[in-house]
Amino acid sequence: MNSSSNRALIDQWIEQPAPLLPILHAFHDRDGYLSEEVLREVAKALRIPLADLYGTVTFYHHFSTDPARPQTAPRVCTGPICRLHGSHDLLDELADQGATSMVCAGRCDEPTPVLSGHNVFIGRHADALEIAPSLLPPVNPGGVEECVFSAIREPGRSALDGYRRTGGYEGLGQAVTGMTPADVIETVRESGLAGRGGAGFPTAVKWTAVANAEGEPKTIVCNADEGEPGCFKDRAILDHDPHAVIEGIVIAAYAMGASRGFIYLRYEYPHTYSVLEQAIAEAYQAGYLGDDILGSGFQFDLYLRRGAGAYICGEETSLLNSLEGKHPFPRNRPPYPVTHGFENLPTAVNNVETLAAASHILRKGAAWYQGLGLDDRAGTKVISLSGDIQRPGNYEVPFGLPLKTLLYDWAGGPLPGRSIQAVTMAGLSGGFLAGGDLDVTLDEPGIRAKGSFLGAGGIMVFDDSRDMVDVAHNAMEFFAHESCGKCFPCRIGTQRLSERLNGGGPGDLDDWLAEVRDIGYTMKELSACGLGMAAPAITDSLIRYFPERVAGRLKD
Ligand SMILES: Cc1cc2nc3c(=O)[nH]c(=O)nc-3n(C[C@H](O)[C@H](O)[C@H](O)COP(=O)(O)O)c2cc1C
Ligand code: SF4
Repeated sequence: MNSSSNRALIDQWIEQPAPLLPILHAFHDRDGYLSEEVLREVAKALRIPLADLYGTVTFYHHFSTDPARPQTAPRVCTGPICRLHGSHDLLDELADQGATSMVCAGRCDEPTPVLSGHNVFIGRHADALEIAPSLLPPVNPGGVEECVFSAIREPGRSALDGYRRTGGYEGLGQAVTGMTPADVIETVRESGLAGRGGAGFPTAVKWTAVANAEGEPKTIVCNADEGEPGCFKDRAILDHDPHAVIEGIVIAAYAMGASRGFIYLRYEYPHTYSVLEQAIAEAYQAGYLGDDILGSGFQFDLYLRRGAGAYICGEETSLLNSLEGKHPFPRNRPPYPVTHGFENLPTAVNNVETLAAASHILRKGAAWYQGLGLDDRAGTKVISLSGDIQRPGNYEVPFGLPLKTLLYDWAGGPLPGRSIQAVTMAGLSGGFLAGGDLDVTLDEPGIRAKGSFLGAGGIMVFDDSRDMVDVAHNAMEFFAHESCGKCFPCRIGTQRLSERLNGGGPGDLDDWLAEVRDIGYTMKELSACGLGMAAPAITDSLIRYFPERVAGRLKD
């Protein structure tokens, strides 16, 4: 392609907010890879040093700079669940097409996904791969009242008409025409809603901080990066109920006085990208986005941006750097995004599920949401359940539901002839729970009392046929692969722990344990972000629950 056509492509995006990722995707889609010529032109147009741009582009897993390995070359998920289902064999079967592996692609409920260009194929063998729509969440087996899934199974819900038929955009209407921004925040505060992306930070506190912060324009970012292995709830919400998320974003924007917003969607969800493009266009046309929303005078614009494959981009400050076209390292904090976020201006980053819940809360009220939890716990949580379990899928549980009720009564228990050996919590970030600690209720205080956390709600099940040292090793390899490398405790620690889980380190058990604990302690105390702080949960819990397996492996 000649330089003028390259320039024309750049010009389509350069005046828009957060232009780097869409420009790179446009070239990647056009050429199948990012050539040196293209990178030079992009660097010049966006005034980014070429070396920085090259470093950023090659940091992302899915951007190709090699024409021999184009965007369409298959990428096979070798995440923790897909590998249980033989994804390495599939990788071998596709080797002649230049297939490479990718970390968890968020289809743990229907392994194994293979990404090629803008398609995700599903199947266990190369000759049986097909494009399959996202699964709807199973009808709630406990018969309990749901929030974010309450209407998701209604026919046509993903289109605007279907959404409005089931009460969609009523909450936004009430907010912008009948409530002050402070009233909206008060409703969310009374509901007890806390972040569903991992940290569980109270949503109303975050929104208040942005509302009170100095600086314009303010921004809301919907974090749809969903890179945590074993988590696939945000995909289900976005694929089947995209307007609930858009409505939640606009409600949040109104509450905080934000005039612009982004949905940052992970690369591995190309179908979801099309769903969102369509839903955003519908919302603009119907007056839920843009100038003078529902005649209220409130203005808000929403942009869709696609990541390029990097788990760390789910961490909110990495995400902001990624949006800004910078190298997606986490930022040092403080200052926090609520005062110094996108372009150094006040920004709220919220998870998909948090925002979808907000739209239901505004329509049905704070007391209704509060009452969905068991005993004194407020609300619900979507759990992505996968692995060695009869009925994997997304389940919306009331906070306080016993884990065993979910595993055995709702999801059918282990596969025939097997027993549950361990589960992970928070995807991989919460490490393992096993033995008597499986008697726990699904809520943060209950799970934290066991030394873990619920986080984004990914639970992967491993039965008694699995070697937990191998499972732990694979988990640590994931963290080592995805460590951004900015700080040494995590960059080096994840590698050293991975080696030690694979036969490295001292041969004497006590020395091995002391060393592994020491590395983990250093990582927890000194890592700059949640990735490095969380990774040692894998080794800590392995040693806690399976000391004889660790000793046996060392002996071998
Ligand atoms: C390594 C790492 C990865 C993360 N990935 C995600 C993610 O994919 N989606 C998400 O919503 N939050 C993710 N988070 C948490 C975000 O930093 C942030 O807390 C969250 O998006 C805030 O939204 P919430 O308050 O609605 O939960 C991640 C955090 C870390 C440390
Ligand atoms: S803890 Fe790991 S992922 Fe986080 S900044 Fe440090 S090196 Fe990067």
